[in-house]
Amino acid sequence: MIEVVNLSKTFRVLEGKTGFVGAVKNLFSRDYRYVDAVRDISFTVKQGEMLGLIGPNGAGKSTTIKMLSGILMPTSGKALVNGIEPYKNRQENAMKVSVVFGQRTKLWWDLPCYESFELHRVMYRIPEKIYKQNLDEFMEFLELEEFWSRPVRQLSLGQRMRAEISVSLLHNPEVIYLDEPTIGMDAVAKERIRQFLINTNKSRNVTLIITSHDMADIEKLCSRVIIIDHGQIVYEGDFDEIRHRYGRERTMVVEFGEEYPEIELPYGTVIKDEGLKKSIRFLRDQGTAIDLITTLGKKYVIKDVSIQEAEIESIIREIYEHGM
Ligand SMILES: Nc1ncnc2c1ncn2[C@@H]1O[C@H](COP(=O)(O)OP(=O)(O)O)[C@@H](O)[C@H]1O
Ligand SMILES: [Mg+2]
Repeated sequence: MIEVVNLSKTFRVLEGKTGFVGAVKNLFSRDYRYVDAVRDISFTVKQGEMLGLIGPNGAGKSTTIKMLSGILMPTSGKALVNGIEPYKNRQENAMKVSVVFGQRTKLWWDLPCYESFELHRVMYRIPEKIYKQNLDEFMEFLELEEFWSRPVRQLSLGQRMRAEISVSLLHNPEVIYLDEPTIGMDAVAKERIRQFLINTNKSRNVTLIITSHDMADIEKLCSRVIIIDHGQIVYEGDFDEIRHRYGRERTMVVEFGEEYPEIELPYGTVIKDEGLKKSIRFLRDQGTAIDLITTLGKKYVIKDVSIQEAEIESIIREIYEHGM
């Protein structure tokens, strides 16, 4: 069980003065700027749950993950992960949890993949039997043989993440934190990672906390989500609830066959006009995308249409506009 109580993190950033005079002044005085990355957040997570932590860039997701996984010390408040405060008992914590960063690797860049696994076995003192059992399972489900003897630096993002997650599960952690695990991957690679996480969560009853700004990740993996913005929780609840109540905005990008300076819409508004290509935003309850495009098709020449799913930014905007 994870319990987060009034957790906050403020970073102190050095405001360097530039130029020669600035450099001299820096020798005598330091000016700091304070960044409230996480402000007074509280929540709990049950054993075996998959929780999604979502929010725009700079919202404080990674900072939260770093405090929960023991990498960062909170400024105030506390986190209890299976009875221990991770940042105070780093050694003990490391044996029970794992953390995966989409943009960083814990594998050895120049070593063949299998050597990183061996090193982990030694570092975490994983019994031979457990190691073998786990490895066999990951080999099969994630097809690690494909790149097993290749140096990590040569792996694609998807392959590297397959190795990354496997290595993180070798010591049978009770909790795994994943910070943007699918970032930069193509759709097929993303789907594979998601499937594996779903299976792992079920078969091992491991607790997962995932951050992402890809709504599809969260939709497929997490039944419960927390949305953070500017370091604060703005929503906590079911994913379905969000889609129901807030996923009302749709954006349709229409590419016209001819230039139309003004177009007449049955509903919605043009939010971006790039000449032939116009983005139209409308609400789900105003009408459907099909009706909109059919109406437009009667008056204008249309070359192409695409619909953008609700983005996290637009959901947050709706939450602020309509309240919880
Ligand atoms: N080590 C740091 N020093 C100073 N500011 C930081 C540091 N890490 C993060 N921040 C700031 O804290 C805020 C939250 O960052 P972060 O947790 O990385 O957001 P997210 O992961 O949601 O994109 C941002 O304004 C970021 O610039
Ligand atoms: Mg981040």
